[in-house]
Amino acid sequence: MHLPPLFVLLGLALGATAASGSQSTCSNFTLDDVPNVNFTAATYYPANALVNISNAYSSIDESNLPAFCRVELVITTNTTAGSSALTEVWLPDDWNGRVLTVGNGGMAGGVTVTELGHVAVPQGFAGISTNTGHDGTTNDGAWAGPHNDNAIVDWGWRAVHLSVLAGKEVVKQYYETAANKSYYLGCSNGGRQGLKEVQEFPEDFDGVVVGSPANWWTHLQAWSIHMNLNTEPSTSPHFMTEDMWQDVIAPEVMRQCDEYDGLTDGIINDPRTCSFRPETLTCRPGQNASTCLTGDQISALHRIYADYYEADQTYVFGGYYPGGEARYYSGLVGKTQFKIGRAYFQFMVTNDTSWTIHDYNADLLALTDELDPGQANAIDPNITAFVGPEHNGKLIQYFGWADELISPGNAIHYYETVHQFLRANTHLDINDFYRLFSVPGMNHCHGGLAANAFGSVEQASNNSPPLSLDADHNILAAIVRWVEEGVAPDTLTGVYYNDNDVANGVGFTRPLCRYPYNLRYLGGDPNSASSFECAFHQA
Ligand SMILES: *[C@@H]1O[C@H](CO)[C@@H](O)[C@H](O)[C@H]1NC(C)=O
Ligand SMILES: *[C@@H]1O[C@H](CO)[C@@H](O)[C@H](O)[C@H]1NC(C)=O
Ligand SMILES: *[C@@H]1O[C@H](CO)[C@@H](O)[C@H](O)[C@H]1NC(C)=O
Ligand SMILES: *[C@@H]1O[C@H](CO)[C@@H](O)[C@H](O)[C@H]1NC(C)=O
Ligand SMILES: *[C@@H]1O[C@H](CO)[C@@H](O)[C@H](O)[C@H]1NC(C)=O
Ligand SMILES: *[C@@H]1O[C@H](CO)[C@@H](O)[C@H](O)[C@H]1NC(C)=O
Ligand SMILES: *[C@@H]1O[C@H](CO)[C@@H](O)[C@H](O)[C@H]1NC(C)=O
Ligand SMILES: *[C@@H]1O[C@H](CO)[C@@H](O)[C@H](O)[C@H]1NC(C)=O
Repeated sequence: MHLPPLFVLLGLALGATAASGSQSTCSNFTLDDVPNVNFTAATYYPANALVNISNAYSSIDESNLPAFCRVELVITTNTTAGSSALTEVWLPDDWNGRVLTVGNGGMAGGVTVTELGHVAVPQGFAGISTNTGHDGTTNDGAWAGPHNDNAIVDWGWRAVHLSVLAGKEVVKQYYETAANKSYYLGCSNGGRQGLKEVQEFPEDFDGVVVGSPANWWTHLQAWSIHMNLNTEPSTSPHFMTEDMWQDVIAPEVMRQCDEYDGLTDGIINDPRTCSFRPETLTCRPGQNASTCLTGDQISALHRIYADYYEADQTYVFGGYYPGGEARYYSGLVGKTQFKIGRAYFQFMVTNDTSWTIHDYNADLLALTDELDPGQANAIDPNITAFVGPEHNGKLIQYFGWADELISPGNAIHYYETVHQFLRANTHLDINDFYRLFSVPGMNHCHGGLAANAFGSVEQASNNSPPLSLDADHNILAAIVRWVEEGVAPDTLTGVYYNDNDVANGVGFTRPLCRYPYNLRYLGGDPNSASSFECAFHQA
């Protein structure tokens, strides 16, 4: 094409001042010479156009997004097998020069369009996400087996890594300049995906935020089976109904544990300070059985609230902590985690579709640790390649103390293994690159009576956006500031919207403290973050 000189000059001038996209860039886009990456579509969405996209795993239906170009790719993940993954890159016209990869929950099974649209594009990031190599719902594991090894590896780590490489190349060709920095945001299985990248592909990201990570995948699934065995089936004497959890157990936990932090507000700031005693609810003769506990139920609660060990004393996983009872029924009785655990043992471990939770035994934990299908575990404590001075990556992790699907003990456990490794093997100070934040009262990734909105995934998309996009209220801005300005986050401020819906207004704000500090009430308005401090006290 022959362009008049004026257009050449104009083009150079525009390219020199800022990299941005446009309708014509998008419509004309093709991908040049990226091996094993097929470009399938580029679709332009003008500002405030209806973005109504759904797949088996994720959907978005919004008309308030800034202008962006949606690029769709098919990545061949293993040429011999012909296995592939779908990846999308969403490229805002008004680009901030950064890429943000967002993770997937559970068994994944679709590009996380909801977070590309709710987090990446509105804040000017070019967003990357993959379906992890298969289509399906969060709880569906049937795609994996038996023996669909390449799909399992794609889900375990390969699709994310290849998508980051391909996505960065799309960004470079689209804006005609490479991204300055690369970030990651994910929770649950998405937390696992982020830690896997930190451990195996330290070059992929400069800053990584992981929530409630499912990183000890083998042990998490074993634990979830154990937790379900503690409560199911509904005909067993240890079964407790949802009403009992919410109306009998929850109030008693609060009666015993809430006041320790100086504020009786339905939030237990550090549940390790209280050892819940269910015996106080023991049924008296003639008492209505829906309002009290039998000996079998009390024993089950002791198992549920304890760290879990196999009979041979192998440590499996942390337990529940007091404070999330209103939600614990849904974690225990098969809503999400149980289905993933069962699918995992059926389709990736035993390859026996008739396997049930009652077939679980300690030998299976040993077997799954040995097989680790798809190399899904992300438990390597040696993260020096990512955080060391050559790469200088930063890692922020968070968890909710009232998590009903992944024990908060797991987040602390991984952080502590890294801490110990670094102390034993390096001169590095963990505080310089890895910080762990706790959210009292928060359920899995979001929700609960908690300051559970602070800019991570699954929050804005569940009607709980951060109070502000600044680095004190928005964990994504906090990791950017740490990476690019060297300002480490000390505390963050989360917000609780009434009934967890921004439309109902702000309920309260609270600091989120960095482990091992915990929230302490200083006095004054309990709805204001300034009435609290983060202080150290021994659990
Ligand atoms: C492709 O780019 C050219 C020049 O920038 C522009 O005139 C044309 O409209 C674009 N094509 C489409 C389909 O937008
Ligand atoms: C990618 O495109 C090539 C060339 O058209 C085609 O042969 C190949 O099957 C495509 N790969 C995938 C995974 O769709
Ligand atoms: C989005 O698509 C779904 C499914 O096709 C449809 O039910 C819904 O009405 C659409 N939303 C809007 C705002 O058009
Ligand atoms: C690719 O797939 C083939 C066929 O399933 C398998 O033998 C090989 O190990 C796979 N390669 C990798 C790197 O996973
Ligand atoms: C990348 O960073 C440099 C230096 O801060 C800045 O001048 C440039 O505009 C940035 N690039 C993009 C694409 O934003
Ligand atoms: C089940 O299949 C997976 C994936 O092919 C394999 O790694 C594992 O060894 C199989 N399990 C058993 C018990 O054979
Ligand atoms: C037992 O308690 C439950 C829950 O409070 C109540 O719904 C039920 O009516 C009570 N049953 C009797 C026999 O009082
Ligand atoms: C930790 O990882 C680094 C970088 O990969 C490696 O050089 C070092 O040997 C490892 N340290 C230990 C104790 O394994």
